[in-house]
This record gives sequence, structure tokens and C-alpha cells, in this order.
Amino acid sequence: MSHLVAPSILSADFAHLANAIEMLNKSEADRIHVDIMDGVFVPNMSFGFPVLKAIKKYASKPLDVHLMIIQPERYITQFKDAGADTLIVHMEACTHLHSTLHAIKQEGMLAGVAINPHTAINNLDAIIEEVDQLLIMSVNPGFGGQKLIEHTYQKTELARHLIEKSDAKIIIGIDGGVDLTNAKKLIATGADLLVSGSFIFKSKNPNHTIAQLKAL
Ligand code: DX5
Ligand code: ZN
Repeated sequence: MSHLVAPSILSADFAHLANAIEMLNKSEADRIHVDIMDGVFVPNMSFGFPVLKAIKKYASKPLDVHLMIIQPERYITQFKDAGADTLIVHMEACTHLHSTLHAIKQEGMLAGVAINPHTAINNLDAIIEEVDQLLIMSVNPGFGGQKLIEHTYQKTELARHLIEKSDAKIIIGIDGGVDLTNAKKLIATGADLLVSGSFIFKSKNPNHTIAQLKAL
């Protein structure tokens, strides 16, 4: 399988979101990554249901909704109704992660688990059968435009081994600081999906930048 690219809409111009979505629809992007922040789990806020619904209305590609919120189990149905195709919760934010992943699938969505830089890959072991996407945070979540943490390559390799040892079919995504200087190495170490925000949206020609990330 060739790798997937999911541009993060967090770095788009929010006053012209429809333009950004139209660009993504026409681009080689596979999915759209949508970051939801509550100001508690991470020291920043982004947007909530009304904006997600508006994005869904225009988007012709699946939405990966990355929840950086505490107790995400409170809102699973609302996120389904707002248009999430994959719902990604943080391992660190879930007291009953196994049952939360079940609840996400029960709603007909794919289930994703994001892990912070300090969280070990081994924690995936006990829930590996329930997960459709593992999202390895390559920065401390909360903000776009940060630098990728070098330890990410090691974690990606470990995750790849763990998944290959099992029967699980899990996509490994990398989120934070992804650009053309590190994307190749991330893929080589086992990444299936690259999330990229500021590198795409701050570039002169975002459509072309997406094509470059896809062409690796
Ligand atoms: C970080 C978010 C990321 C972010 C990536 O908290 O989860 O998805 O938008 O942005 P860049 O690619 O700029 O690091
Ligand atoms: Zn994200």
C-alpha cells in the first residue's frame, strides 16, 4: 500500500475555509485531518461541532477527527452526526479506552488512538484488536508549526513491529512537524499516513506540496 496524506485543516485560513476545502478536494490528499482542542487536554482551543459540520458539507474526502479533549466518550454520537469518518481519541484522555473504542465502532466510525510523545508504544498491545488507526504524536499536541521530535522514528519502528506480529490491520499515522525533510524516513520506518498542517498551508502552492508528499 502506498502511503496516505492527510492535510491538517488547523493551519488553513479559517476565514476562507471553503477555499481550503475545495483545494483539498481537488488535490491528491487522501483524507482531511481535523483537530479538535478543548483548552484542557491541550493548552489551546480550535473549534467544535458547527465548524466540523460546515467542513463536512464541502469535503469530498473522509474526515479524520483528532480529539484533543478530555473524556471524549461524552461526545461520540455528536461527532458521528457532525461528520467524522475516523474518530481519534487520546490514550491519555480515556479511562476506559477499550470500551470507548467499541462505542466509536458501534456508531459506524473507524476508531483511532493517538499517543503523546511520552506514551510508550507497548500500551497498544492490550487494545490492538480494537484499533483502526494509531496516531503517533511527533510533537506535543496543541499547536501547529512545531518541530518533529526525533524519537518518533524509533516509536514508529516499534509500532510497525508490534502490528506486524499481530493479526491487526492498523494504519500508523504520524502527526506534527511532518515535512519533506523527514517524510521519507517516516515512511521507511513504518508510517502509513502522514498528517501535515503548516508545511502544506504555509507553502506557496499547497496543492503542489501535497503532490510532493504523495510522490515520495
Ligand atoms: C497538533 C495537531 C496537528 C497539527 C499538525 O496538536 O494535532 O494535527 O495540526 O500541524 P503541523 O504539521 O504544522 O505540525
Ligand atoms: Zn492532529
